[in-house]
Amino acid sequence: MVNPPDPSNLFLTEVLAGTGTFGTINLAPMLMFESSPALDLLPTEKKSKRKKTPSALESDFVLLPVKTVPSHFSQAFEASERDFRIVFGWEDDPHKRNFAIGQPIDMAVPICIDLDRFVERSNGIFGKSGTGKSFLARLLLSGVIRKRAAVNLIFDMHSEYGWEAAAEGKQFQTVKGLRQLFPGQVKIYTLDPDSTVRRGVRDAQELYIGLDQIEVEDLMLVKEELNLSEASLENAIILRNEFGKNWISRLLSMTNGEIQEFCETKMGSKSSIMALQRKLTRLEELKYLKQTCPENPIKQLLDALKSHKHVVIEFGSQSNMLSYMLATNIITRRIHHAYVRQAEKFLQTKNPSDRPIQLMITIEEAHRFLNPMTARQTIFGTIAREMRKYFVTLLVVDQRPSGIDNEVMSQIGTRVTALLNDDKDIDAIFTGVAGSTNLRSVLAKLDSKQQALVLGHAVPMPVVMQTRRYDEEFYRAIGEIDWEEVSTPEVLKAAEVARADLGF
Ligand SMILES: Nc1ncnc2c1ncn2[C@@H]1O[C@H](COP(=O)(O)OP(=O)(O)O)[C@@H](O)[C@H]1O
Ligand SMILES: [Mg+2]
Repeated sequence: MVNPPDPSNLFLTEVLAGTGTFGTINLAPMLMFESSPALDLLPTEKKSKRKKTPSALESDFVLLPVKTVPSHFSQAFEASERDFRIVFGWEDDPHKRNFAIGQPIDMAVPICIDLDRFVERSNGIFGKSGTGKSFLARLLLSGVIRKRAAVNLIFDMHSEYGWEAAAEGKQFQTVKGLRQLFPGQVKIYTLDPDSTVRRGVRDAQELYIGLDQIEVEDLMLVKEELNLSEASLENAIILRNEFGKNWISRLLSMTNGEIQEFCETKMGSKSSIMALQRKLTRLEELKYLKQTCPENPIKQLLDALKSHKHVVIEFGSQSNMLSYMLATNIITRRIHHAYVRQAEKFLQTKNPSDRPIQLMITIEEAHRFLNPMTARQTIFGTIAREMRKYFVTLLVVDQRPSGIDNEVMSQIGTRVTALLNDDKDIDAIFTGVAGSTNLRSVLAKLDSKQQALVLGHAVPMPVVMQTRRYDEEFYRAIGEIDWEEVSTPEVLKAAEVARADLGF
């Protein structure tokens, strides 16, 4: 670069033109490998035993953060398949819950994430619309279910995780939902039974929410959707204090005269309460809201989670933002409450049977719940900030990460990000990530589908991958046997054997 050949030197220009080229290469050291010191301490006989399986070789390395600069004349090599295995492991590692989520762009070797580390913190899947977020979410959820890393509660806004979902393409195609892959382990609850039945889902459980389960806090979250003023919310608190948990049904049935009388004695504002009453009538449009619901379906849902059943909640036609946010907040608040109690009990008794099962809650359009205005007030902000303390974490799926509060974003442990082109969104992905300048340009250059950058807690270093295909081959590799489709005695027998092999 310093001494380009003199252009008048025809001989040199002819030699170089068309054949020679040069460029600068930036090397950013990410990890150092060292062979494991523990190995040297093993008796020779054991050592040779370990070397029998090829994978044992790779586990003999320890990965360390980069603390030194490579010395002069160190050689640079392109990463080989083995290097990828050393760093990202392999799926059937008996010592880890690894799950392959893709491959490097130009090599056929799996990139695995460590699911135990994954579920320990809140995580995010980001990308523009149509880049494969829902597919990535289904993939990761299948991994968590298959490897039993955590129990899942999924708020399925567009009804695409539980049962069949449509895939884009020239002809109409569908992909399987989690309930079809793991019929014995996944339960579908629905807030719109008609729609769920229409889609061919048998035995989905109906879920109702009582008006008496709505707190003023829930209304604060949907303040914009309901167009509620601060004054209305303050008066909601007065009403709640006066009437207790039935305040909404009481308010909805109050006449003008009663409101007038109430305001005179309780210092409420008549106009605000009238406005509140008018706006809350919109709640009557939500099919799943009932005056009261004695059988408490949320408790049933919690029992399902406790018995290690994964729960998908479908919204069907009830998927507008108001409906989604309200139900999601009310249900999560109760479940979180139960988890906090259980976790505190466990902390006190230290009895392993009291330990709550790690819970991962999936929400879509996450920036609506976690924007700087609401993240401080809602249960989701709390969960993201308190991290694993109570064994509950989030999986947020979002196309606008810049809308998520910074403080929450910096708690997101593993970020799986497909193509983004808005600079603000790209910045948000790297909140709290050191040395991200090189990675930034990577994000805007990804293919528009099935490619993603994975970085954070569950992978040793950031990596760009070709996402694992979610297709028939994947179902075969990962799914449980569908008992409902199995009929003849021979098939049943074979299935039972396979089931035992899989350890179900
Ligand atoms: N892992 C994958 N396997 C198979 N198809 C995929 C995968 N990821 C993305 N696709 C294709 O890309 C389309 C859009 O993906 P989708 O997850 O619906 O996007 P988003 O949720 O980000 O809007 C899908 O319909 C599918 O055709
Ligand atoms: Mg989607």
